[in-house]
Amino acid sequence: MRIMHVLGTRPNFVKMAPLIAALRERLPESDQTIVHTGQHYDRMMSKIFFEQLGVPEPDHMLEIGSGTHAQQTARVMERLEPLLTGDRPDLVVVPGDVNSTFAAALTAVKLGIPVAHLESGLRSWDRTMPEEVNRILTDAIADQLYVTSEEALGNLEREGVPAGKAHFVGNTMIDSLVALENRFRPLEACRQFDLEPGGYLLVTLHRPALVDGPLLFEAIAALNLVAADVPVLFPVHPRTKARLDAEGAGIAPGLHLVDPVGYLEFLSLECDAMAILTDSGGIQEETTYLGVPCFTLRDNTERPVTVELGTNTMLGLDPARIAEIPGLITDGGTVTASPPPLWDGKASERIAELIASEE
Ligand code: UD1
Ligand code: UDP
Repeated sequence: MRIMHVLGTRPNFVKMAPLIAALRERLPESDQTIVHTGQHYDRMMSKIFFEQLGVPEPDHMLEIGSGTHAQQTARVMERLEPLLTGDRPDLVVVPGDVNSTFAAALTAVKLGIPVAHLESGLRSWDRTMPEEVNRILTDAIADQLYVTSEEALGNLEREGVPAGKAHFVGNTMIDSLVALENRFRPLEACRQFDLEPGGYLLVTLHRPALVDGPLLFEAIAALNLVAADVPVLFPVHPRTKARLDAEGAGIAPGLHLVDPVGYLEFLSLECDAMAILTDSGGIQEETTYLGVPCFTLRDNTERPVTVELGTNTMLGLDPARIAEIPGLITDGGTVTASPPPLWDGKASERIAELIASEE
């Protein structure tokens, strides 16, 4: 069997690493090709994940870089098509909901090549999110749909996906975390930033709805206030950094803005944090598994299982509510974590088994 994996962004690498490993083990005779679209390209947004997760070097680099949605989508399609026509894989695997995901799926499907979509069926019901459009379109054209939660399976059923096409397998992002648990738990990466375990609020913010407009500066003002009581560590996504650099923002002494950190270091920072403020999809899931209080600065989540079974509290897209976080933590504003069903580190093995059964 010839399998092509197409990936392009930080969360893609985390989701795909364990599946690539599981397929190598389950189908040792298979021919696996890794294509990196280059949507993320800074070392700390890309190469560090290959190194820390033990993913082999990509066979092909498409180097699409940054650009508008149309530019990124079109560049992936133009540069992937000749590889697909040359290699004719039996299956193309795409993860998540980024521009690279949908572009690769559309290119393969138009050539009659089956597509497997990892992390299928998530819905925020908010079509102003670019990811929501990518998810709906990828699910509509993919042949094999692998889902992380029962809700996601229900979403696909309601959209008319035939039984047998969608499989509830668990969460490969959690597989990556579980595989590295012995390494990140003792790391205490917070000490690199002169912080104590349990003594800081960890922050990531990168969604366009927040960082591309004035709300980003309201969030920084609120974090400045929180930082007077609790140290705040904020590894800044390059989209967010570009805005902060362009506009300038006053930063209080307790608010530490740093570059993105490696995956092992970030997991360590997550597990030792007092709480996390984020608008990331993956971090809502990781904190649920780790049992760390998570406050999500969005109006909606495509991952409701993290609210129902986990530690996730939705703050709304309202930076003023950031000031409530210290009080919410001490008031026990979050519930005890319980990992959702099948978030057990074995999702990739289940997917590999299903892919092998299609052979
Ligand atoms: C993308 C995904 C988003 C995902 C996020 C994960 C889409 C539509 N969005 O958003 O769903 O949550 O990745 O982090 O696919 N940049 C750099 N260096 C890099 C990468 C980006 O400096 O290595 C800067 C550039 O200024 C670029 C901006 O970040 O314009 C945004 O990058 P882009 O890949 O377009 O979107 P993300 O915001 O990263
Ligand atoms: N992450 C990381 N370093 C950082 C910030 C995040 O390694 O400085 C990891 C995090 O542990 C998770 C993934 O990146 O596995 C989440 O990526 P991101 O928030 O960019 O994307 P999203 O999940 O929102 O699509």
